[in-house]
Amino acid sequence: MAKQTTSKRNYPWSTVIDGKTYTLRLMTAKDKKAMLDFARKLPEDDLLFLAIDITEEDAVDNWIENIEKGRLHTILVECEGKLVGHGSLIHEEQVWTRHLGGMILLLGRETRGKGLGNILAGELFGKAEELGLRKVMARMAATQKGAIQVFEKLGFKAEALLTDCVIDRKDKTHDLIIMSYDVTGFNV
Ligand SMILES: CC(C)(COP(=O)(O)OP(=O)(O)OC[C@H]1O[C@@H](n2cnc3c(N)ncnc32)[C@H](O)[C@@H]1OP(=O)(O)O)[C@@H](O)C(=O)NCCC(=O)NCCS
Repeated sequence: MAKQTTSKRNYPWSTVIDGKTYTLRLMTAKDKKAMLDFARKLPEDDLLFLAIDITEEDAVDNWIENIEKGRLHTILVECEGKLVGHGSLIHEEQVWTRHLGGMILLLGRETRGKGLGNILAGELFGKAEELGLRKVMARMAATQKGAIQVFEKLGFKAEALLTDCVIDRKDKTHDLIIMSYDVTGFNV
């Protein structure tokens, strides 16, 4: 399970895994091209279920706008000067769900299974706590078995299964799983 952190993290910071240095830093408008390049190199399977289509310039512009408005908090992971993934926390805008955040984790294939998902989740739980959020939700297609297992290990619990609520890039519908992580440590 990802470690909770209550202290504000200063970025950038780096960690060495298997002899390679991975740097975590906050995304800014200057990262637009790097994000598009990263997304456009992802294999088709990974692109099937992107909640935000970051291969599209407009979507990345909109993402950056949300970062600047403080609605989105994105931590980038870089290795050898290249973007290799990100973790994002979306702060719900509507009044009645203002205690909720949404988490998106996406790492390039060669960067998976090294503990970086765990690290990003820990950073984002810390941010959620700092923002006073109580629950962090993650949404994925029921067919994404590996991702569901990873999120369970991060401490998320499956809350709901919604029939045909995801549509992939090939217009095929899938069931949507909503998972949640209780930031406060209590049931809310
Ligand atoms: C989800 C994702 C970010 C996980 O990142 P990662 O760096 O590979 O995960 P970690 O190496 O930190 O592993 C986290 C935990 O899950 C476990 N795990 C990793 N891959 C797994 C797999 N395929 N199946 C089962 N468990 C797995 C690890 O053992 C670890 O558990 P532990 O803490 O008990 O040791 C990455 O797989 C990814 O980018 N997937 C594609 C995008 C996606 O599906 N995102 C989810 C929707 S937001």
